[in-house]
Amino acid sequence: MPYLSPALNVMIAAARKAGRALIRDFGELENLQISKKGPADFVTTADSRTERVLVEELSRTRPGYGFLLEEGGAIEGKDKTHRFIIDPIDGTTNFMHGIPQFAISIALEREGHLVSALVFNPVTDEMYVAEKGHGAYLNDRRLRVAGRKALSDILVASGAPFLGKDGREEFLKELKGVIGATAGMRRFGSASLDLAWTASGRFDAFWERNLKPWDIAAGILLVREAGGVVTDLDGRDCMMDCGHIFATNDALHRSLLDLLRGKS
Ligand code: IPD
Ligand code: CA
Ligand code: CA
Repeated sequence: MPYLSPALNVMIAAARKAGRALIRDFGELENLQISKKGPADFVTTADSRTERVLVEELSRTRPGYGFLLEEGGAIEGKDKTHRFIIDPIDGTTNFMHGIPQFAISIALEREGHLVSALVFNPVTDEMYVAEKGHGAYLNDRRLRVAGRKALSDILVASGAPFLGKDGREEFLKELKGVIGATAGMRRFGSASLDLAWTASGRFDAFWERNLKPWDIAAGILLVREAGGVVTDLDGRDCMMDCGHIFATNDALHRSLLDLLRGKS
C-alpha cells in the first residue's frame, strides 16, 4: 500500500472530485465535435472549472497555501512555505479531440522542494502518486522505472512543438538521433502522463523542451521516486525554470543524453 501523507490524501480527494466532472465533460464532447462552433470554448470552460474545483477543495483543507496555476497564475498564500502547482487538464488537445489521454496534475512544494505529487487520468482511473522518500505508486502498485540498458531496446516518448511553439529545429535534430538508434518513439500529448508512464516503465525515457512548471512538477517527483533520473537537456537540474526535461533510468541517462545532444 502506498504511504499517503495527509496532504497527498487531500490532493487525491480534490482530483477525484474534479475528475468526476471532467469525465462528464469528456462524454459531452462527442456531441460537440460535430457542432459548427466546435469544442474549443467548451474546453476552455472545462479547464477553468476544473482548476476552480481543485483550488476550492485544496484551500478548504489547506488554507493559506500558495498556488501556481496554469489558468489563474500565481497566488501567494499566507503560508510562504507551501505551494500547490496545478495543471487542471494536461493534454487539452487530446481532450478536445475525444482522445482519453489527459490528466489532472498536482504537485506540492515545501520550501521550494517537491514533496508530494499526483497525476490522475479520470477516464482510465489511473491515479499516479508519489511522496518524497516513500516511493511512487499507480493505484496500489509500487512503481519502478524500466530496467532496459541498450538503446536498441528502448521506447522513448517526447512532445513535438506545435504551431506557435519554439524549438522545432532542436526537436527535429533530437528526433532524428532517437529514431535511428532506438526501438521506437511515441508522442501522446500529455507531458504529465508521459512522465508518469516513464515512472511506471511503460516508456524507457521521455524528453521535451519548453514546458511549464505545471506540466512537469508532479511528473518529476514520480520518476525520481520510481528510481529514475530527471535532468534538463544539459544534464543539470533547471527543468522547472528552463522548461527542458529529460527522464530515464540511471543506466541510460548518459548514452541517451549524448544521443539527444548529437554527441554519439
Ligand atoms: C501540453 C501537453 C503536451 C505538451 C505541450 C503542453 P496542455 O499541455 O503537456 O504534451 O507537448 O507542450 O503545453 O496545454 O495540454 O496543458
Ligand atoms: Ca500542460
Ligand atoms: Ca492544461
